Order: sequence, then structure tokens, then C-alpha cells
Amino acid sequence: MRNETFRPDLLKGKNAFIAGGSSGINLGIAKKLGVLGAQVFLMSRSQDKIDAAIQDLREFGISAAGCAADVRDYAAVESAVQRCVEVFGPLDIVVSGAAGNFVAPAAELSSNGFKTVVDIDLNGTFHVCRAAYAHVRKPQACMLNISAVQAFMPVPGQAHVCAAKAGVEALTKVLAIEWGPQGIRVNAIAPGPVEGTEGMARLTPTAKHKARFLQAIPLRRYAELDEIADTAAFLCSPAGSNFNGEVLVCDGGQSTLGGGGFAAAWSG
Ligand code: NAP
Ligand code: COA
Repeated sequence: MRNETFRPDLLKGKNAFIAGGSSGINLGIAKKLGVLGAQVFLMSRSQDKIDAAIQDLREFGISAAGCAADVRDYAAVESAVQRCVEVFGPLDIVVSGAAGNFVAPAAELSSNGFKTVVDIDLNGTFHVCRAAYAHVRKPQACMLNISAVQAFMPVPGQAHVCAAKAGVEALTKVLAIEWGPQGIRVNAIAPGPVEGTEGMARLTPTAKHKARFLQAIPLRRYAELDEIADTAAFLCSPAGSNFNGEVLVCDGGQSTLGGGGFAAAWSG
């Protein structure tokens, strides 16, 4: 029996780098990893958001630091990783969750609009994984990419996001194969709609939109931040030590209905 599984100090001594960690789902993950004992380093574009998030984490007794960088800028991501290593030491956990989203039908989406989301979500994920690779403690390091059900469920108005997140999942699996032999696990979480997030504020701007979305979810509710954070903690902890190249879908059963339910929520 493995005594280290599910202890309250499960992640004590672990260092986590979290791209896009200054708000929403990724901040929820940072908090969860932190309360389980990890030191957490946040990276996003806004230093003000990072400072506020660090303050929030410290109120939970979490050792936290961070710096601003845009995931689209590989050199900036490398510098941020380097800074994290200087502050905390080698990385044990790397979460890549920076993303951009807006609703735009493909016929109205500019080339730059499409490119912008692919640059942030997909290229940004490669940048984070690639920059962190040289600094992760091997074996037993873990990378976790934040995908979305749009990766495998076609959603009108989300061509850019669907394409980018499908790429994130393919990238996750290739890295898992290439880096697995060195003891680096690479997994992803694909959340469905999550309550109280910027993403859902953009996808379901009105009560009518939200009511339709709920009909496309068998549990008839959005996920709580904590449910995604618990999934992340599982994958990043010894409890998830044999998961590699896996995408855990946390969506209340939404994707079991197929893309039709999601699409219907948008039509009419
Ligand atoms: P959010 O609060 O807006 O989180 C996005 C984070 O990424 C922010 O910290 C943002 O901070 C950062 N960011 C954005 N662009 C960046 C860039 N170019 N470089 C560096 N950092 C950048 O949104 P969320 O809804 O919680 O989403 C978080 C993740 O969950 C995303 O990967 C999203 O695709 C995924 N997801 C969300 C849902 C949902 O229901 N919300 C469902 C499925 C998947 P700055 O503004 O400071 O850069
Ligand atoms: N509809 C259609 N096109 C849009 C759009 C919208 N709502 N919002 C932005 N775009 C287009 C812009 O018009 C621009 O294209 P153009 O040059 O052809 O006009 C392109 O996208 C880039 O926009 P810009 O505002 O310059 O990008 P940015 O790098 O400043 O911001 C975004 C990136 C657009 C993704 C912005 O929404 C963002 O920062 N999002 C982060 C937070 C977030 O989305 N959270 C939810 C995560 S699930």
C-alpha cells in the first residue's frame, strides 16, 4: 500500500508553475495544489492580477510568487520559468492553462482572431511545456494542460477554440510519449462549463443561454472550480502516477450527449 496517497500534505516539497494562474480555473488549481503543500508560481500577462492572486493564495498560508509574461512570447515564457526556478527550485508540476475565448461565427472571424486564440491556447501550451522541460525534476514530474470539451465537440462560434484545444490534446499525447521514458507525465483536463468563470461569462452571456446550456448537461449544472481543481490535484499527485497522455473529461456528462446538445444550446 502506498502511504503517501491522499495525505493532507500530499504535495509538500513540490514546486508548481502555473501559466494563466492569475484567475479562474487555473487560480483554483493553484490554490488546491498550494493547500496540499506545493509552492506555486503564477504567470499571466497582468502583473496586477498576479499580485492580487498571490495575496489571495498567501491568505490560505500558501507559499506563492509570480511574474508577468505573455504565453505567445517564447523568450518571455523561458524567462518566467527561469525566475520560478530561481525562487523555488526545479519544477515538479507544470500547469498550462492560459487561454483566450470569444464567440464568433467562422464567417465573421478574422484571420487574426483565429490566429490569436491558436497562438495563446496551442502555441502557448507548447511554449510552456517546452520551456519547462529543461527545468522539471526527473523522474516524477508532471505536466497538466487545460483543454476543453470543444477539443472533441464541435461548437458553433468556437472554430478557433475547437481547433486550438484539439491541438492541445494532440500535443499532450505526443509529449507524453516522448517524455514519458524520462519520468515526465503529460496529461490534460477537458472541463465542460465551469461556474463563475470568465470563460462561461463569454459563452453564456445571458440567462437564456445558460438555461439552454444546462439542458445539454446530464447533471444539469456547471462544474464548481473545486471539482476541476480536485481533478488537477489527482493527476498531479502520486494518486495519478500511472496516468500519462490522458485527457480527463470533467463535464457532468455533457460530452456523452455528443456535440449536438452543445450546438443546440447555441442555435435559435
Ligand atoms: P480566465 O479566468 O480568463 O483565465 C485565463 C487566464 O489566462 C488568466 O489568468 C489570464 O490572465 C491568462 N492569460 C490569457 N491570455 C494570456 C496570455 N496571452 N499569456 C499569458 N496568460 C494569459 O478563464 P477561465 O474561464 O478560468 O479559463 C481557464 C482555462 O480553463 C482556459 O484554458 C480555458 O480554455 C479552460 N476552460 C474553461 C472553461 C470554463 O467553463 N470557464 C471550460 C473549459 C475549459 P491575464 O489576463 O493576466 O493574462
Ligand atoms: N469577436 C470577433 N473577433 C474578436 C473578438 C470578438 N469578440 N475579440 C477579439 N477579436 C479579434 C480582434 O478583432 C483581432 O482581430 P483583427 O486584428 O482582425 O481585428 C484579434 O481577435 C485579436 O484581438 P486583440 O484584442 O488584439 O487580442 P489580445 O491579444 O489583446 O486579446 C483575446 C486576446 C482577444 C483572446 C482577449 O479576449 C483576451 O485577452 N482574453 C483572455 C481572457 C479570456 O478569454 N478568458 C476566457 C478563457 S476560456
